[in-house]
Amino acid sequence: MISQFIENLTCAANFYGNQLKSSPRAIAYLKQRGISGSAAARYKLGYAPTGAQSLRNIFNNYEADSLINCGLVVCNTDHHLYDRFRNRIIFPITDSDGDVIGFGGRVIDSNGPKYLNSPETELFHKGNVLFGLWQATASIRETKTVFVVEGYLDVVSLAQHGIQNVVATLGTATTENHIKILLSLTKNIIFCFDGDEAGRRAANHALDVCLEFITDSSITISFLFLPDNHDPDSYVRANNAAAFHLLAKNAVSLEKAFLLFAMNDISLEHAEGRANLIYRTTPRLQRLQEPTLRNRLVIDIAAYAQITIDELMNLSSLK
Ligand code: CTP
Ligand code: MN
Repeated sequence: MISQFIENLTCAANFYGNQLKSSPRAIAYLKQRGISGSAAARYKLGYAPTGAQSLRNIFNNYEADSLINCGLVVCNTDHHLYDRFRNRIIFPITDSDGDVIGFGGRVIDSNGPKYLNSPETELFHKGNVLFGLWQATASIRETKTVFVVEGYLDVVSLAQHGIQNVVATLGTATTENHIKILLSLTKNIIFCFDGDEAGRRAANHALDVCLEFITDSSITISFLFLPDNHDPDSYVRANNAAAFHLLAKNAVSLEKAFLLFAMNDISLEHAEGRANLIYRTTPRLQRLQEPTLRNRLVIDIAAYAQITIDELMNLSSLK
């Protein structure tokens, strides 16, 4: 079943890739987004044409269950079959071997939702996959760092600007599996988020997921917040790779982010606020097993909460 899915998806990826070459509209869209031919080739970008059943061109048995089950063909309530991806730029999503396991599709005009992804299948689980990982692996090992961004185009655009150690989550929040995959390649993860409230919330969630994976003091996780109204793609195009690297250099460390998020909206002038700080940080400190980072945070939090380190250790059951 799984190998049939991969075969179907690989055939479809090749078809979409060829369609891109013969679609002036899709090419014009990518040009207008500043995507070069070689960046498009690196990520095997494609184009799903407008027809309802374009995939009939490559599959003899369009009615096959495996085409529906792998997410390429949709069966509507009237039992009509049609291609899931139509009139969209296609981003093939690969596993760590480079095999295609799903697609992301972006509209090129304003029809329908901006992004559509393959559904969850036996093969494709969004929380276990990072877009661009296969292409990024060599660069992650070489630079010993990985950038985690939110968008497919952010990955393609950064890579085009020479920042190839970049992956994206697939429209989902950071998961434990994402962290495990990344930490198997490097000890240095830089999350890139928008500088707005949603970006801070996403960073706070990512921080929470990371805590129990910080098992060793050589792991560094940091948070790069982009200036207002920028995502990594728009930022690197408006500036350059050096400017992006400068943002990375000034990224907020996990330690600092831990304290910033813990004290967000809290008034330390009042006893309630100080108690709230302890209440909020306790579960996080408990999940953080790495002793040096935990000790530094305990010292800081005790000082902010105006209690002794021993009192904090007792209150938070850290002994
Ligand atoms: N995404 C997704 N499914 C959605 C919405 C978003 O998978 N329904 C993912 C895609 O990876 C997308 C990323 O989230 O690239 C960011 O989406 P969005 O914020 O809408 O991206 P923009 O920067 O606004 O869009 P783009 O640069 O592609 O025009
Ligand atoms: Mn964008």
